[in-house]
Amino acid sequence: MSETILDVCDLSVERSGKVVIRDVCLNVTEGDFVGIVGPNGSGKSTLLLTILGVLKPKSGTIQIYGKSPNSMMTNKKIGWVSQAAANLPKNVKITVRELVKLGTINRANMFDRLKSSSNDRVDEAIRKTGLENVKHTEIGRLSGGQKQRAVIARALASEADFIILDEPMVGIDRDSKNSLLRLLDNLCHEEGKTILMVSHDVTAMRQTAHRLVFLEETIRFDGPVKSFPGMDKLADLRGIEPVH
Ligand SMILES: Nc1ncnc2c1ncn2[C@@H]1O[C@H](COP(=O)(O)OP(=O)(O)O)[C@@H](O)[C@H]1O
Ligand SMILES: [Mg+2]
Repeated sequence: MSETILDVCDLSVERSGKVVIRDVCLNVTEGDFVGIVGPNGSGKSTLLLTILGVLKPKSGTIQIYGKSPNSMMTNKKIGWVSQAAANLPKNVKITVRELVKLGTINRANMFDRLKSSSNDRVDEAIRKTGLENVKHTEIGRLSGGQKQRAVIARALASEADFIILDEPMVGIDRDSKNSLLRLLDNLCHEEGKTILMVSHDVTAMRQTAHRLVFLEETIRFDGPVKSFPGMDKLADLRGIEPVH
């Protein structure tokens, strides 16, 4: 049996007094690659922000590595790649290597950050994400796909075991999208990382994730990619009635 990394139970979350997600149960085990899909406004980002401890549940519980969200232990294990990663500010003068290096600085290892092991981790993360040829380039000069990989490299350098991504494929071209998906697949299979990724791109997610979750206020489907419902079944699950 693989270890349970994330256990979400009967979770409901309100934003501005309106229930945005309701009765969500989700279990992620070690080495899983789970894709959460759903239309715009279906509560995907809300779910992730609640898992990260930024938003508080109205009801229900969340455990990450057996702990509540936003504890020192969970923060150390989670690598967060936000929707805005590809929009890192253009005017910040910091190189790829410096950005990745920031990933090694956290409260737990503040005092040993000068050790060479953290430099090794930085170089390794840069290599794994294929950014060696731009490691001394300022992040403002990178393409969207490269920026996204730089943020993933920062998460890798922090030694996060559980990587959570919110719409990392927005605003990047098809080749970058393919290389990003291959990178995530490698991290999962070769590094044993656990991946939870949100996207509205069902097609891309079907090509990569092991398991798909369809979220629209609540979970409408959760199962292996090969059992993901076709159009008619999906309309039925979502309660969308045929007009003709
Ligand atoms: N800061 C906020 N305050 C109030 N409502 C919000 C806020 N952010 C999002 N919402 C609402 O919550 C719902 C879910 O949003 P979100 O989780 O961002 O969806 P998704 O990521 O699936 O597009 C939407 O109806 C959205 O309008
Ligand atoms: Mg979102």
